[in-house]
Amino acid sequence: MPHVVTQSCCSDASCVYACPVNCIHPTPDAPDFLQAEMLYIDPEACVDCGACAEACPVDAIVPHTKLQPQFSDYEGINAEFYREPRSRTPLALIPISEVKSDPAANLRVAVVGSGPAALYAADELLKQRGVQVNLFEKLPTPHGLVRYGVAPDHQSTKKVTKLFAQIADQDNFEYYLGVEVGKDVSAAELAQHHHAVVYAYGASGDRSVAIPGEDLPGSVAATEFVAWYNGHPEHANRTFDLSSERAVIIGNGNVALDVARILTTNPEELAATDIARPALAALRKSKIREVVILGRRGVAQAAYTLPEFHGLIRKHNATLVIDKDELALDAETTRLRSEGALDPQLERKLSLAEEVALHVPGTDRDRRIVFRYLTSPTGILGDSHATGVSVVHNTLVTADDGTVRAQPTATSEVIETGLVLRSVGYRGKRLDGVPFDDERFVIPNEGGRVLGRPGGSPVPGQYTCGWIKRGPSGFIGTNKSCAKETVDNLIADFNAGLLPEPASAPREFQRILRRRQPNVIDSDGWARIDQAERARGEAAGAIRWKITDVAELVESARGAETRGVSRFVQRMARR
Ligand code: F3S
Repeated sequence: MPHVVTQSCCSDASCVYACPVNCIHPTPDAPDFLQAEMLYIDPEACVDCGACAEACPVDAIVPHTKLQPQFSDYEGINAEFYREPRSRTPLALIPISEVKSDPAANLRVAVVGSGPAALYAADELLKQRGVQVNLFEKLPTPHGLVRYGVAPDHQSTKKVTKLFAQIADQDNFEYYLGVEVGKDVSAAELAQHHHAVVYAYGASGDRSVAIPGEDLPGSVAATEFVAWYNGHPEHANRTFDLSSERAVIIGNGNVALDVARILTTNPEELAATDIARPALAALRKSKIREVVILGRRGVAQAAYTLPEFHGLIRKHNATLVIDKDELALDAETTRLRSEGALDPQLERKLSLAEEVALHVPGTDRDRRIVFRYLTSPTGILGDSHATGVSVVHNTLVTADDGTVRAQPTATSEVIETGLVLRSVGYRGKRLDGVPFDDERFVIPNEGGRVLGRPGGSPVPGQYTCGWIKRGPSGFIGTNKSCAKETVDNLIADFNAGLLPEPASAPREFQRILRRRQPNVIDSDGWARIDQAERARGEAAGAIRWKITDVAELVESARGAETRGVSRFVQRMARR
């Protein structure tokens, strides 16, 4: 009776190290770890001890007898990964870098950012005795993309915040929320008052689609739309035009699937989640009934992952539509498929798309998601507002290096819409005073050691991890091994005496900081915000009612919210 990894797998790989028989792969040291869409359990080797399920921070692992019907395919998905045999030699324990005895008491590290990479870095550092971690975040709330990126109907993924709370609860950890590095305090000052600074602030920008009309009102970045429905203070008061019947999403990665799902879910099903309430109110009035997702290449090259595509097909109520004529494969995929040699995960993706093409209506026949493949946008149309997207149909060609490319044909059309969401990826942004690679949109680094310029020498005391280190790839848990590599190098440098001594005692820096930013929120302040949001949510029958206004968040952190919550609860009770 094997255990099975399911959809919400975050690739944190805690399960890999918990497993006594090394039957979860790929392991973080394997070459395919970074590309893997999830981890898989070998049913032949699993001895059903349950250690992996205990270790998983998002409860993605269950015994196969307890699989919910919509996850029943996961038995096969896990097993298929082992078509090629994998090593069963027990994995060596991960060596923990050790700070050399006495100086450990003095190692003071600033971490910039508060998402998964930042918190995994803090966790790695706090494995040492006496190390102090100060974590700086410009927003009054922590957890980055887990709070402001993960879709509200993916609550199991958000369970990782329990792990984050445990990390932040350790001695020698402190939050400095509401402090913007580069504005309230400069990167140089941060470096001056710590032995080391780890930049882990993610990639909050979006990539351009570079077509005419991109900046028309009604054409927006999907990342902004995601931030809006998740209650990001900088986007919560935005308005999006939901008055037309159709929305078009350019790009077909997991973010596109999230946005399409949120736009086509009956809002009453979202009401009990932690969706931002202004967004919920707007979605209740939305006229959008169809979302078209555009992918320029073929179905075999689609950017979404198998777990997300599978989840959409098995769990979402809207009707999904794929025209079978758009399921054309490139020559190599066709050959491998005919020989039964196609990668099993890709084979599953193709079979699921073919299943959708059979046109079985969903339980919600009023709302539809239409997948278009081999279709590139050539322009966003409209004078003062988007009215449509002009597209060209593509054919697939294989370049000399084996890459499959989309080649435009003479066939084009216009898809009418009032809302265009550009979803072609996140992009890192420069932080004042920190080296930046303008071509790759990351901080130039070698193993997490910041370099003065791409290919240059390390800058003493500066490190990076997460998306701003390696670009926007991988999943929440991928940041764990990424952070470990960075922290290992930081500790090695500290032991080698390469880190500069801080210029002042910790209290002096605290004084400077509080003078510059009197509204700084610490761990206790965040605990009060968290409590207030949960109490508000409970009164409204939701998991959490996010506070989206910065001034109100600051008030909550100060404890004024206790009175506010009781007033809020009374108001809700009267409704
Ligand atoms: Fe199987 Fe998980 Fe134990 S994969 S062997 S139940 S750690």
